[in-house]
Amino acid sequence: MISTRLTSRFGLSVPIVLAPMDKFADARLATAVTRAGGLGVLGAGYGDADWLDAQFTIAEPVRVGVGFIAWKLAERPELLDLVLARDPAALVLSFGDPTPFADRIHAAKVPLFNQVNDLDEARRAIDIGAEVLVAQGGEAGGHGKGVRSTFTLVPEVADLVAERAPETLVLAAGGVADGRGLAAALSLGADGAVVGSRLWAAQESPVVAAARDRALAARSDDTVRSSVYDIVRGHAWPPGYSGRALRNDFVRRWYDNEDALRANLTDAQGDYRAALAAADFNTADVHIGEGIGIIHDNPTAAAVLARMEREAAAVLDRLAEAARQGRS
Ligand SMILES: Cc1cc2nc3c(=O)[nH]c(=O)nc-3n(C[C@H](O)[C@H](O)[C@H](O)COP(=O)(O)O)c2cc1C
Repeated sequence: MISTRLTSRFGLSVPIVLAPMDKFADARLATAVTRAGGLGVLGAGYGDADWLDAQFTIAEPVRVGVGFIAWKLAERPELLDLVLARDPAALVLSFGDPTPFADRIHAAKVPLFNQVNDLDEARRAIDIGAEVLVAQGGEAGGHGKGVRSTFTLVPEVADLVAERAPETLVLAAGGVADGRGLAAALSLGADGAVVGSRLWAAQESPVVAAARDRALAARSDDTVRSSVYDIVRGHAWPPGYSGRALRNDFVRRWYDNEDALRANLTDAQGDYRAALAAADFNTADVHIGEGIGIIHDNPTAAAVLARMEREAAAVLDRLAEAARQGRS
């Protein structure tokens, strides 16, 4: 078993947290991750009170966390009270200013995780007393700023935390899709990893089979960050954010051509909605990270966690042995 500050503080047996993937991280997937020894988190995404209520009811008695998109939560702050009343295991805030929500989360004694994209956001997270900083690199699936890579952001955030708030934990997010990635995250100074894409492809995930099969056949090079799906879905993301998704006919047509997309929005929205209904992922979106290039199968969440833990332990043992031999 790999023991870290994350596993001891949250009573886990694997240093893995499920990424709060909008609606994909539902009660079934989140409870599977918690039962397997990780920390399951519901992806509240753009905010839907009925969905959240239903997920908590399905999840009971298993305790799970909840992740919100902060700029969206600012439009419906009452959702935070709804969630805090359910005594979540953690509250993850990503993408936007977490400051207005921090006091309520601390008062409820719920651990606050803040997903950050750069050092300024990391400093702000420390200032508001976040217990856990999630350093997200641009490799990640779904949204983010995409301005930093996991490989350099994690050690910088770890150094900052060591200097300014040594009790605070650091997690790596973005591209951690097997045990090598988990071992790398720990080597870079993280206490664990937030895993999205790998668990998106797990058996318990609600992803449509056609989307999953397309993703499993894809390589990292088939993913790209863009705003085309935000435009067509009418999600008004603040400047600086983009979403990583599979390149398909829709992305190829509108990528770097967003003004034309806006000019043809009604038609494009019609095409997008029809494609979603028909599970046609040449047009509909498959948000996924660069890690997809090393994701080839569809095991249970428990098998994913066990495999990642086993592989990471083997990597770390090998490195320790190599260092011992080097010294002798
Ligand atoms: C399909 C998908 C949807 C996502 N939706 C959200 C979201 O709603 N809120 C959020 O904070 N992060 C979201 N993310 C990003 C994750 O929190 C996390 O940073 C990312 O999955 C980590 O990288 P990985 O996909 O390489 O594991 C999403 C990621 C994916 C793949």
